[in-house]
Amino acid sequence: MQNNVAVIAVDGPGGAGKGELCLRLSKKYGFAILDSGAIYRVLAYAALKKGIALDAEKELSSLAANLNLSFKEVNNAVAVILDGEDVSSFIRTEETGGAASKVAVLPEVRAALLQRQRDFAVAPGLIADGRDMGTVVFPDATAKIFLDASAEERARRRVSQLESRGVKADYDKILKEIADRDFRDRNRATAPLKPADDALVLDSTTLSIQEVVDTAVKFIESKLGR
Ligand code: C5P
Repeated sequence: MQNNVAVIAVDGPGGAGKGELCLRLSKKYGFAILDSGAIYRVLAYAALKKGIALDAEKELSSLAANLNLSFKEVNNAVAVILDGEDVSSFIRTEETGGAASKVAVLPEVRAALLQRQRDFAVAPGLIADGRDMGTVVFPDATAKIFLDASAEERARRRVSQLESRGVKADYDKILKEIADRDFRDRNRATAPLKPADDALVLDSTTLSIQEVVDTAVKFIESKLGR
């Protein structure tokens, strides 16, 4: 428990199915979701807009500390609002994801965003989606899940997601983007992507979303003492 608030930490690489799992868990338990990746994405987007280099640690950490960011529910989806503007569609591109993983390498940037993320833990509980939720941001989380999947499977899922929206997708290009982002996330010195020692590691490569949810819920119930 984090200040007597139940926190369920869901970490793992992009495209492993964390978003869908968090949505289902949020509905089941009535907990809010912290999409921490969206915060890094908005920061990268704001930096690019202001012409700040993605390795300018001082400028980026001060931008991070003063980011005027909020989340708002619009038509059953969570919109990301930066300075009053809905930037959801701009931050969801693979390009912004790659830029986010560059600013996310910088320790001062991560430090500037730490308290902002912890403030999301309010009663009755929080589903925290990210890379370091169980290891750094909420080390005392009630339950920690690390959801993985092979890079090839994640690229396939991304391609079919884009194609279902009528967007043409290049599998090889997407696979390379995923591999590059994974490498940066897993090998950075501060808060690298890795399972917490007490996390349930779930490989979703050959599992359906329902199988992932069922396994996760069983584990969470045991941690919640139900
Ligand atoms: O989860 P999402 O793909 O939106 O995250 C974008 C990038 O933000 C990740 O590739 C990672 O570099 C960074 N990130 C992070 N720590 C988190 C969440 C996201 O470093 N807790």
